[in-house]
Order: sequence, then structure tokens, then C-alpha cells
Amino acid sequence: MMSPAETTETSTLHPLTPLSAGEISSAVGIFRASRYATPTMRFVMVTLHEPIRSDVLNWPSTPVAREAFLMLLDNATGQTYEAIVDLSAGRISSWEHKPGVQPPVMLDEFFECEQTLREDPLFQEALRKRGIHDFSLLMIDPWSAGVYHSDDPAHAGRRLVRALTWVRGGEGENGYAHPVQGLMALFDLNEMKLIHLEDTGITPLPPEPGNYAPRFLDRFRPGTMPLEISQPEGPGFTVTDNLVEWQGWSFRVGFTPREGLVLHQITYDDGRKRPIIYRASLVDMIVPYGDPSQDHARKNAFDCGEYGIGMLANSLELGCDCLGVIRYFDAHLVNSRGEPVTIRNAVCLHEEDYGFLWKHVDWRTNETELRRSRRLVISFVSTVGNYEYGFFWYFYLDGTIQHEIKLTGIMNTGALPVGETRKYGTLVAPGLYAPIHQHIFSVRLHMQLDGEGNSVQEINTHAEPPGEANPYGNAYYAEATTLKTECARDLDLPSARYWKVINPNVTNALGTPTGYKIMLAENALPFVHPQSSVRRRAGYMDHHLWVTPYDPAEKYAVGDYPNQRSPDVADGLPAWIQQQRSIENTDIVCWVTLNSHHIPRPEDWPVMPCGYIGFHLKPVGFFHRNPAIHLPPAPSRHSVEVGRNGSSCGCHAN
Ligand code: CU
Repeated sequence: MMSPAETTETSTLHPLTPLSAGEISSAVGIFRASRYATPTMRFVMVTLHEPIRSDVLNWPSTPVAREAFLMLLDNATGQTYEAIVDLSAGRISSWEHKPGVQPPVMLDEFFECEQTLREDPLFQEALRKRGIHDFSLLMIDPWSAGVYHSDDPAHAGRRLVRALTWVRGGEGENGYAHPVQGLMALFDLNEMKLIHLEDTGITPLPPEPGNYAPRFLDRFRPGTMPLEISQPEGPGFTVTDNLVEWQGWSFRVGFTPREGLVLHQITYDDGRKRPIIYRASLVDMIVPYGDPSQDHARKNAFDCGEYGIGMLANSLELGCDCLGVIRYFDAHLVNSRGEPVTIRNAVCLHEEDYGFLWKHVDWRTNETELRRSRRLVISFVSTVGNYEYGFFWYFYLDGTIQHEIKLTGIMNTGALPVGETRKYGTLVAPGLYAPIHQHIFSVRLHMQLDGEGNSVQEINTHAEPPGEANPYGNAYYAEATTLKTECARDLDLPSARYWKVINPNVTNALGTPTGYKIMLAENALPFVHPQSSVRRRAGYMDHHLWVTPYDPAEKYAVGDYPNQRSPDVADGLPAWIQQQRSIENTDIVCWVTLNSHHIPRPEDWPVMPCGYIGFHLKPVGFFHRNPAIHLPPAPSRHSVEVGRNGSSCGCHAN
């Protein structure tokens, strides 16, 4: 990504610059020439081996080796390996066998599994029984298999997916309108063959198409007039290597196969360069479905840890995904055969108008002051089977940072006899329902607020009991409690709870520690049973905020290898916090859980208008007054008059 020079020359590249396609090729070449390579190895991922923070901060006075991290799967033995390749030295600096784990499902495996099943006689027979004869119309989605009490012990140790099938009504039609109910293919990806076909009975295919592409529509709604974004003098941001700078903000753009977009070293310059977050990314997500039927009960895809949300990123298009003056970044990844794959325009950077930021009318003098809000947007979008997820970071002029996830695409579906409904889902067409589910995300924030030594305070608001201190019954107050040891906390509406990261060693002009609060809006708690396999494997879903001391080994909320990991293996946040390490005035990581509770609506079919979930990081005492006071007033421009009395004024309207 960022297309640095196609060379392994390292002296000028910032240590957090993602690997170029050339560097990926070099890493693969160095590995292939080593004694560790076998002909049956697949490249699960090749990505930058990020140096530790102290090395990054000491660069460039102390040089940093440019290294690639490789994850490998040997199909012949089913064994997983990790390698670190020193690109400057042209050698392998670390080699590790990871026994008993399954790496993520690779995109190549997806396609090979689908093609193999399409041609499998047993699978074909099950489809013929259901009246399906044109196998070119099949859509076979290999879902990660998980680990369940009903699993056949004879399959232990195999590399498994459980494939679910849909069928298009015709070429290019939306296949998710026609789920092949009751058919689950347990498939071994190492041997690339079907090992068990579960057939729980036939339900007729739902009869109605669910198409949304223009060629299937008979009309378009009128009145969507051209709306153009014009930035005649260009955008207000600059991009140098992978460094973005805008209105005091700066950060470095990273991209990994597992997390997609990574923001490094988020900093605000108010005369001094003030670090806020060292590293921010989506680290995990899972969608537990609430339907106990065999088709849905074992859906448990970890889209980061079991597939790689970065691997599934879209190539974005100007005018469709993004409006305005756009700077795109390419993502350089690798396919399972070790060939570099570039996703063009994977990350989009632009500015957006955002209504007004602040306003006051001195109503005695009629003097009006208003400043418009704008935000810098950096985003990427991934397609995960039927769903699309857009991941957006926004930076505002008042020091606010926002992370927002847009949920769209097509809902996962099941078939019912026409005329029936189902308790565990919503009917969206005759014989077609969408099961209830939750999208549960984990966003990791490695903090660096005003430098080293951060703490987290929990702020609860209390009503003062009536009495001498509260004679009118109106009194209430906010109380801050510093979290001492690593822990998990939940939202609490009765106390309007939020959390604030502070630097107890740095005070603002008012004498209080500088801080940023973490504000979660719409959220939920999980409904899958605490002892269910999926919940035990994804324990981060139990709580809304986790705080741990930084440990370079703790990168993902569910641990490094969630694919097919037994719920009995303790890994990830719930296991880590058992250590009860101190989180006071130290190097800390905040893990934010976002739970989008999705009870499907008929309006979400056949393609879903965006749902949104996210959080804000808002400065609290980071500045000592409104940092947007010095914004220049926007020039008042009289645009096309559309008001009844022709009094439209660009300055006063939102
Ligand atoms: Cu949903």
C-alpha cells in the first residue's frame, strides 16, 4: 500500500509504511529459497512485521530493520508456521511452528471449495432431489466450521468449513433470495474434498426473486437532481508517503490482511505535536445468529480472524463510494500461491461538509457567528459473502474522532414453507426469512494520550439523595473513578456512564489532567447463552469496554488463531484480564465492543439500507477551551434561490 518505491531500500521508508508489492515478492522469494519451504505450502498472509513502539519512536536516529511477517499452511501436513523475513538482510530471521491451530480461510480456498462442491456427485444428487439441475447458478458459501458438541470426533484436526448453498433464479440474479435449506456440506480444505453431507430435509425454494440491480427493475424514481461537490482549490489535506496531515491532525495509514485499515500515530498539533492514539483498528467481529435450526445454529464467522477483513476489501470507485477530491490508497496483499495481489483504491481519503459546528446569534445586536463543520474521512469497505461493511474514521475540527461502521449488503436468509412465519426471524418475502442476529465488533485502541502514562476513569452520574445537601431535590453530580487493574466494563443507562482516558502526568491550563472520553451510542449485550460455543470462543462480546496494559503479544480480542479453536481453550481478552495487571499510569490498550442488534425488517430486503454503529472519542480537558474558535468564517455565498421568499443564505442554513 502507498506504493513506496519497489525496492527493499529501507533508509527512507517510515517503519510503519506497509509493504509494497515488490517487498511482498521479495519476502516470498526469500522464503521460497529457504530450507523451510515445501511445494505444498500456501501463503496465508504476507504483511509488514510492525516494529515495537520504542523502535518506531527512536527512528530515524536508530535504524529499524524492514521485516515481513509470513503465515504459512502446509496442505500436506495441515501444519501452520510463522516466519519473519528480514528484507534488508535477505534472510529469515524467525521461524516458528504453531501446532494445533488453523489459520484463516484463504480466498483461494473459497473458490476451490465452491468449484469442487459444484462438481461433487453426492452434492449434486442432494440438489437434484430439490429440483435444482443447473449447477452454474449455485452460490456456495464456505462458513468457518467452529467447534460444537455435535462434531464427529473423527474429524478433529482437519481443516474444515461448513458450506451453505443458495441458488440464483437466473444468471446474475440475487441468489440469497433462494436458500437451499437443510443442506450443509462439511468440507476439508487441506484435502479439498467433501467429507460429510448433512441433509435435514427439503424445504421448497422461496418463489420470489429478490433483485436490486438496475436491469431487473422496471422504473427509477424521478427527482434525484445532480449534486456535485466542488473543491476548486483542491483538498485541505496533504499526504506524504503514508503520512496524512489535515487541520492539525496527522496519522499514518496502514493496512493488514486481517484488520484492513490501520491508523498509526494519531496526533493533534495545537502548537505542540500531541499524540493521542498510537494504533487503532478493527481487530475482530462475529455475527451470532439466534435461530436454533441446523442451518443457522453453527454460523459463527470471525470475519477478521477466520477470513481477514482486509483480504475482502473492495476496490472503490470515484462518484459511487466517494464524492469530492479523493486520495486513494492501494492495498498490497498476497494470494495463497504467494503472488502479490493489489486491491486498487482500497482506502479512500477525503473531506466532507458536516453541517455547522458552532453558532451564536447575539440577539440584541443581531450579530451572528457560525462556523461550518467539516471532517476528514478515511475508510474502506469489505464484502463478506452476503454482507458489506464500511469502516469509517472521521476527524473533526473540534478535536473529535469518530469511528463508524456502516452495515449494508444482503441479509443472510433461510427458507420456510410459503405461508409460514418463524419465531427466530423476520419474513421478508413469501417462504423467505432473515434470522435475528447481532454484529459484534471489537475495535482496539492502543492509547498514547499526551505521551506515556495513561489511565482510564469511569464517569458515573449520581442523583444526590434529598436532604440538607439537596433541599430542592434537583442535585446530581458526576463522579470519576480510576480503574486500577485490567477489567471489562459495561454501559449503564441509569448512571449515564462513560469512560475517559487521561494522562495523569499532563495538565491543561485549568490544572486538570488532559483527557479524551470514549462515547458509545447504540449498543447491546449478547443473547447467545454464556455457555454456548460461539460466546465462549468470542468472550469479548460479554462487555462493552476492556482495558488491558499493552502487551505486544495481545493484538486481537480473540487471540491469534480463532479458526476452529475449541471453546475450552482460553485465549483473548477474558483470559488475559485474569492476570489482574495494573492499568494505572501506564501503557494501555482500550478495546471497544460494538454490538449492532439486528432484528431484520422487511425494508432490509432485498438489499439493506445502511445501518450504523460506532463511537466517538471527544476531547475532555485535552484543550482548555473550544479549539475551533479560530476557524475562519465561511464566505457568505448566495446560491440558487429556492426559498419561497428567495432568502436562502449559505451561511445560516444547515
Ligand atoms: Cu445484520
